[in-house]
Amino acid sequence: MKEKKIEITFVKANFNELDISEQELIEKAKNAYSNAYAPYSGFLVGASVLLENGEIINGSNQENVAYPSGLCAERVALFYAGAKYPEVAIKTIAISAKSKTFEIDDVVSPCGACRQVMAEYQQKQGQNIRLLLHPTNDEVLIANSVTDLLPFMFNSEKLRKF
Ligand code: THU
Repeated sequence: MKEKKIEITFVKANFNELDISEQELIEKAKNAYSNAYAPYSGFLVGASVLLENGEIINGSNQENVAYPSGLCAERVALFYAGAKYPEVAIKTIAISAKSKTFEIDDVVSPCGACRQVMAEYQQKQGQNIRLLLHPTNDEVLIANSVTDLLPFMFNSEKLRKF
């Protein structure tokens, strides 16, 4: 038996330390959450995807009374980007959130399903996707690759072996 460790890397930065373009992407994610349809959770999430061609695709969470039918903000934005520009790489995704009922005082990090979707797009395009996770206290958590958030992801290479 041998214990092994996986190291992940992330950066904590102050909002003002980011490039203006990344600050703007976070602002876009903050604007996007006002379009959330979240009557059941009251938890509004915005995601803004910057593409290699410079276009920004915004998404917000869309809920449904049949709860599992709803979709997270990240996947709304990512799937729209994939549907509109299937051949254009995703450079960065910024995520921000607001609750109608409490103060969010920590980083909002994407759920496992959204990480899986991001990870596959990253693998498909052969280029890392940068993540900007924006908490409310202006400290931004940055990851330079989705795999940092999803070690041991299920990937298409594994599927092909079956
Ligand atoms: N949600 C997102 O949009 N993104 C995440 O990464 C986590 C959760 C949404 C789903 C649901 O509408 C609400 O937040 C509460 O879970």
